[in-house]
Amino acid sequence: MKAILCLYFLFVAVACRRDRGKIFDVRTYGAKGDSKTDNADAFMKAWRDACAQNGKSTIYISKKTFYMSDVTFKGPCKGKIVFFVTGTLLAPADAKKIKQDAWVHFQYVDNLVVSGGGTIDGQGSNSWSSNSNIRAMNSKLLPANMKFDYVRNSTIRGLKSLNSKGEHLSFFAVDHFNIIRVNITAPGNSPNTDGIKIGFSSNMKIWDSHIGTGDDCIAILAGNTNFDIHGITCGPGHGISVGSLGKFKQEKSIHSFVVRDTVFTGTTDGIRFKTWDSSVADLTVSDFWYENIQMVDVKHPINIEQNYCPRPPCAKLGGSHVQIRNVTFKNIWGTSGTKEAVNFQCSKSFPCKGIHLIDINLTNRGPGGPAIDLCENVQGSARGKMVPPSCLK
Ligand SMILES: *[C@@H]1O[C@H](CO)[C@@H](O)[C@H](O)[C@H]1NC(C)=O
Ligand SMILES: *[C@@H]1O[C@H](CO)[C@@H](O)[C@H](O)[C@H]1NC(C)=O
Ligand SMILES: *[C@@H]1O[C@H](CO)[C@@H](O)[C@H](O)[C@H]1NC(C)=O
Ligand SMILES: *[C@@H]1O[C@H](CO)[C@@H](O)[C@H](O)[C@H]1NC(C)=O
Repeated sequence: MKAILCLYFLFVAVACRRDRGKIFDVRTYGAKGDSKTDNADAFMKAWRDACAQNGKSTIYISKKTFYMSDVTFKGPCKGKIVFFVTGTLLAPADAKKIKQDAWVHFQYVDNLVVSGGGTIDGQGSNSWSSNSNIRAMNSKLLPANMKFDYVRNSTIRGLKSLNSKGEHLSFFAVDHFNIIRVNITAPGNSPNTDGIKIGFSSNMKIWDSHIGTGDDCIAILAGNTNFDIHGITCGPGHGISVGSLGKFKQEKSIHSFVVRDTVFTGTTDGIRFKTWDSSVADLTVSDFWYENIQMVDVKHPINIEQNYCPRPPCAKLGGSHVQIRNVTFKNIWGTSGTKEAVNFQCSKSFPCKGIHLIDINLTNRGPGGPAIDLCENVQGSARGKMVPPSCLK
């Protein structure tokens, strides 16, 4: 009802503003939008006051550029909080100035909305060249732009994330979380800049977003259930990826995913599953539905890789122990950058079951002649138009 009223009185800006509750403007806490003052303390103070307030509070960031070192916004809070960014949040260019695994970190909050149409700029370009070295030395990734841990019933809407040092938006143990109309951008050659990376989370919607980075557009890690992903444009990047999985004992199964109405452009992978060849975890990946997906010059449009081993040799434990089951690919079309447009390389100890292809049309634009479909340890079916011809029986 409130939304309808708000629409009705759209021309009366005041009517809508009331919906934002009490306003906490970071400038009244001393924040300066001059691109250089460290505003972390001012933001933390604004958060503390907003978090202690009953009802709805809006932390308001005006249309200026606010530099800020790392911050943690911790709940639980008394009421609902809107983190409203109309301007730009600017990260330190030096990764060493960020002492935690995310630059802007939300934890233990319910009913949070991050919106406002503004930008979070991770200034990652200085750190990317050293990224692979840092990883090798400390096995520690560079910080995410924004991270959400144990955040429930929340939304990110209309936000731009630019040039993160590590991944852009990272989620751990969130529930009922909507990500709508986000625009995530980093160069195609920036390492480990996953767009959206999620683990141990449930009931998520990722809608109407543009993601182009140097790593996965969306990375779906262990323990995720019940996702609805649609209206994504992905590229450059490594596609929508499930995994990698199977490396750690504490991993949990993944199930119930719908991915539809999505376009991959110039990515290395489109739809990808990757599980470690030398996996120690026994888990199931099941009930996935991919529908209406266009591939534009995607190297590996449909790719199940259960022999994932990025840095060989991998210990051979008889193949991946991740069971992939009940995955449907319906109406997937476009162009492949390699001959192997459809690749099902499943585990020999846990063969894929119930892999279904319906109406596929993928043509090879790369070398090697017409596209093919590779099958290894896979059971399933194919119906409708089928280019390349399927090896599923
Ligand atoms: C979150 O939303 C769910 C479903 O709408 C509701 O059942 C639950 O009580 C909410 N939890 C919180 C913490 O607001
Ligand atoms: C997303 O960002 C890219 C790169 O900055 C830009 O070209 C594009 O227009 C943006 N799209 C939207 C919907 O904001
Ligand atoms: C297969 O997965 C779909 C969702 O993609 C689900 O609706 C269906 O119930 C699953 N079938 C079985 C046999 O588990
Ligand atoms: C597959 O797509 C190509 C190129 O878009 C088109 O020419 C061809 O007719 C399609 N094939 C089928 C069986 O739909």
